[in-house]
Amino acid sequence: MSKRLAGQKALVTGANSGIGRAIAKSLAADGADVVINYISRPEETEKLIEEIKADGGNAIGIKADVSKEDQVQAMFKEAIEKFGTIDILVNNAGLQRDAPFKDQTLDDWNLVINVNLTGQFLCAREAVREFLRRGMRNVSVALGKIVCISSVHDIIPWAGHVNYAASKGGVMLMMKSIAQELAPQKIRVNSISPGAIRTNINYSAMDTPEEEAALLKLIPYKRIGVTEDIGKVAAWLCSDDADYITGATIYVDGGMTLYPEFAHGG
Ligand code: BGC
Repeated sequence: MSKRLAGQKALVTGANSGIGRAIAKSLAADGADVVINYISRPEETEKLIEEIKADGGNAIGIKADVSKEDQVQAMFKEAIEKFGTIDILVNNAGLQRDAPFKDQTLDDWNLVINVNLTGQFLCAREAVREFLRRGMRNVSVALGKIVCISSVHDIIPWAGHVNYAASKGGVMLMMKSIAQELAPQKIRVNSISPGAIRTNINYSAMDTPEEEAALLKLIPYKRIGVTEDIGKVAAWLCSDDADYITGATIYVDGGMTLYPEFAHGG
C-alpha cells in the first residue's frame, strides 16, 4: 500500500480506545507519526504505541484534558517540540452522559458540551495557529487538515441524549464555519459522522441479542460498524486523495441517516 501520509505529523484526541484508537492505527499505517492524546488508562496508550511500532509506525502519547485550554496548549507545545509540527488533527475525544431531559443535570450538560464541543474548538484553534505559523511543507498540497469526529446525531435528534446531540450539532456548524473561514489558507476541515460503531460508548445498546436486533432495524446495511470503518475513512480524508473536500460531513453509518422506517411506510 502506498503511504499517503508519509512524513506527516498527526494528533488524535481520545486515541487510546474505541474509534480514536482505530484512527491512530490507520494514520500510522499510512505513514504519519501519531500523537496519541489520552486522559486515562496510560497502559492502553503504551499498548497502542507498541502495536503501532510493531507495524513499523511511530507514535507517542500525551495526556491532556481537551476541555482545558492550558492542557490543550501544553499538549500542542509538547507535540511540536517532539515532532516539529502538526499537519493533521483528528478531534475525536467525546463522551455521553445520558438522562431523560427533565433529569438532565447542569453538571452532565456542561461536561458533555465542554469535552465534545469546546474540546474540539480548543484543539482546532491550536492546530490552525500551528498550520499558519509554519507555512507550507512539501508533505501535502494542503497547509493542514482537521477532521472532527461528530455523529449521526449531528442530524438525527436523540431523546434521552439531548446534551450529546446538542454537542454534535454544534460540532457540525463549528466545522463548516472554520472550513469556510480557512479554505483560502488551504486548510481543509471536515467531519466524519459515525453511526452505531461497536465501542465502549454504546456497548449497553447491543449487549443482548434483542438489543442488537433492535439496533439493526435502524441500519439499512444490516451490520453494526467496527472502529476500522472509521479509521480507514479518516486516513483517506486526511490524504491528498481527498484534497478537494472541505466543509463536508461524511456519514459512515450503514445508512442510518436514510430514515430506514420509511423503507416500507410513509
Ligand atoms: C453514539 C452511540 C450510538 C450511535 C448511533 C453515536 O454517536 O455515541 O452511542 O449508538 O451514535 O445512535
